[in-house]
Amino acid sequence: VTAPYEIPSSRVVIRPDEITRLTAVLADILTSGVLSDGPWTQELEARIALAAGRHDAVATSSGTSALEIALRILDVEGEEVLVPTNTNFATAQAALNAGGVVRFYDGGLYPDLTSIDAVASAGTRVLLLVHIGGYIAPDIEDIVRWCEERDVVLVEDVAHAHGSSRGGRPAGSFGHAAAFSFYETKVVTTGEGGAIVTDDEDMVRMGRVYRRQGLDRATDTHVVHGNTWRISEIEAAIGSLQLEVLPADRDHRSRAIRRYYELLGDHPLLQVPALEDDHLLSGYKCILTLSRPELRERLWTSMAEKGVEMDREVYRVPLHRQPVFADLDPGPDRPHADRFAAEQLCLPMWRGIPDTVVDQVVDHLRATLDDLAGAS
Ligand SMILES: Cc1ncc(COP(=O)(O)O)c(C=O)c1O
Repeated sequence: VTAPYEIPSSRVVIRPDEITRLTAVLADILTSGVLSDGPWTQELEARIALAAGRHDAVATSSGTSALEIALRILDVEGEEVLVPTNTNFATAQAALNAGGVVRFYDGGLYPDLTSIDAVASAGTRVLLLVHIGGYIAPDIEDIVRWCEERDVVLVEDVAHAHGSSRGGRPAGSFGHAAAFSFYETKVVTTGEGGAIVTDDEDMVRMGRVYRRQGLDRATDTHVVHGNTWRISEIEAAIGSLQLEVLPADRDHRSRAIRRYYELLGDHPLLQVPALEDDHLLSGYKCILTLSRPELRERLWTSMAEKGVEMDREVYRVPLHRQPVFADLDPGPDRPHADRFAAEQLCLPMWRGIPDTVVDQVVDHLRATLDDLAGAS
């Protein structure tokens, strides 16, 4: 079965009223002569900083550049940066681009603090933490404390976690800085884009220097090795309109995930993560695990035959197994990541997903699991 699926794993949803507003905004931008680094960039920065509970933000060309800029400002050149192996290529590559020495730690849905501690050394400078799928670790406060006690700078990769929070603290507010992505698939999308959020005013000032080819406008000289890492005004406007309604969208996605979990949580082949009341999910992914991973390929095929796309999990191959990183520290095994990669399932999820779609997926999934379990 090939796309288009009746129920894809995700959709990009820009609502008709937003398209109407954006059409007018586009005309304004195009006639204003300010196509980059203007009022919409400032608007996006104010809104994403607010969503993350931080003082300020620097909008960038991508999540990858946001991470790289933050790490360059922290000056990780030659210093150890701990990166989860269960993440996107960009988390590690940004650290390498900034000159960091990458060490992979273990983790499944959540980072494993025991492994972080085992991989760390006296020279560890930065811990990169990823809230996979928008889920924030239950022991996040312990991780924050671990960093404080060792003088390790915590940087969150919040590419999946727009609007997530735990214990009343938003994703992006736990570390010294955090990097969002606004790539096409993300909870808030600008097509391409990203942002650093932080309370560190120097980081904000330097972030704006880095994204403009290292140019310090005060002296009109290039003071650092920056790049063309700006976001356009058009992209910034697209993201700003979605950020206006992020809490309502987040609540809708969160409710859809809870519905999936309520309807599937009792199935003997599935495990759903515990969801405490104070844990709000961005709803980037709806993740659960399959207790018989040997059935997964057949499950995906069978669901695809019913029109449901399921084989878009996070992440199929952890970074310690990626050929491009083969020459980085081989280190210990990462059993949590390997197990999670084999067992995870992601259910269809998008902005405003209707309950009827959730129910349809649940019916197909239950029937398919029963067939597979009966046949084996
Ligand atoms: C966890 C994570 N970090 C960073 C990125 C990089 O973001 P971008 O594609 O905007 O560079 C992505 C995804 O694209 C991601 O999933």
